[in-house]
Amino acid sequence: MEIRQVTTDERVTTTFPLQAYAFSPSPGPDDEAERYQRRQRFFTTATSFVAEEAGETLAGAASLPMRQNVRGLVHDMAGVAAVASHPSARRRGLVRELMTRLLRHTREQGCAVSALYPFRPSFYARFGYVGIPKTRKARFAPEGLSELLRRDLPGSVQRLPIKEGFAAYEALEHRLLAHRHGFAVFDETRSAEFREEKAWVALARVDGEVVGALRYRIDGHGGDLLGSSLFSTGPLGRALLLQFLARHVDQVSAIEVYLGADELAELWGTDMTVTTSAAVDSPTHNAPMVRVLDVPALAGSRVGRGGITVEIVGDDLIGGVWQFGADDGQLTVKPGGVPEATLTVGGFSALVYGALDPVEVFTRGLGDLDAEAMERLGVLFPTRMPYMFADF
Ligand SMILES: CC(C)(COP(=O)(O)OP(=O)(O)OC[C@H]1O[C@@H](n2cnc3c(N)ncnc32)[C@H](O)[C@@H]1OP(=O)(O)O)[C@@H](O)C(=O)NCCC(=O)NCCS
Repeated sequence: MEIRQVTTDERVTTTFPLQAYAFSPSPGPDDEAERYQRRQRFFTTATSFVAEEAGETLAGAASLPMRQNVRGLVHDMAGVAAVASHPSARRRGLVRELMTRLLRHTREQGCAVSALYPFRPSFYARFGYVGIPKTRKARFAPEGLSELLRRDLPGSVQRLPIKEGFAAYEALEHRLLAHRHGFAVFDETRSAEFREEKAWVALARVDGEVVGALRYRIDGHGGDLLGSSLFSTGPLGRALLLQFLARHVDQVSAIEVYLGADELAELWGTDMTVTTSAAVDSPTHNAPMVRVLDVPALAGSRVGRGGITVEIVGDDLIGGVWQFGADDGQLTVKPGGVPEATLTVGGFSALVYGALDPVEVFTRGLGDLDAEAMERLGVLFPTRMPYMFADF
């Protein structure tokens, strides 16, 4: 068995048949391979590894170059995707070898963190990943926002075809990336495909500056207005977009938008009828998972106070003893020392991403911590809700 990196052109004959079989209805349409080939222009910056035996591709795994804000630092991130093996080659450890190669490669390329959407979280937990919150879907009737129609808000909303509004939409995404913990974006090559979507974009502006954006489509008169993540720089941008949505009363019966797990749609109006939901289910509706690939790269992250020396166990990439401290709220990192606590890479990643409290890290079996270590880790890495957006 040989593992090698394949080029964009080679993907059609190597990884595509595995992916099509694993993720699409099959047998697929006759032009499935041509359609895949046409989409490859959006994936030229992706990295793909395959496992081959006697000239046959038995497994593949890929990574998309992304960027993610983790506690105030924007890192290069490996967005792992297209992990699949041939049914007759499963449970032979091929994907384990591919993932190990892929993660080492992305770390060497400068990725400090990695994220993915798992088919089954326990599979990726074996590779050090840990869950972070899934975005919520808020579904509501536009009538619930009617009081906003009477407000004279200091700003405006413009509706454009996505092609025309995409540059402004993407610029807002990049501003949010700089400020919002957990926020992740694709590179220009991958995100160019979204410009071709059949969708509108609503852009909220205050004094000419974009402060909110929503991609959406309407599925019919009296039907649904189906929105993407509702992005805003703050409450005014959000209110401008909600006021725009309120104007669709009697045109659509329901509106759906996606939100971070800490956003509360029930507070948007007095008579809101709203259901906010996040269904988590294998294999197609799981919450995202993340892991740290490079510990020294975390230096400078916005943290709490104090310090502790930790041993990270069971991981080739970040295993070892690390001394963590806080210098005026910024993380300091030094290798070595006498460990005061033991963490798995998943436990460490959960603390870095602010998704779990140290007590939960302990109760979930992601670390061996005494009461003092829990206290100190909690002060150094206070929980903080990460928002990694994705629209489903
Ligand atoms: C999921 C899939 C990629 C696994 O490939 P594989 O080649 O069988 O994986 P490996 O043999 O390398 O197994 C790696 C580890 O995961 C475990 N594992 C394999 N399948 C698993 C599953 N379905 N659930 C939980 N653990 C699993 C193995 O026991 C092994 O554990 P270990 O190395 O710690 O002992 C393959 O079954 C597949 O292609 N499935 C369909 C497509 C899919 O769901 N892809 C994932 C998209 S996110």
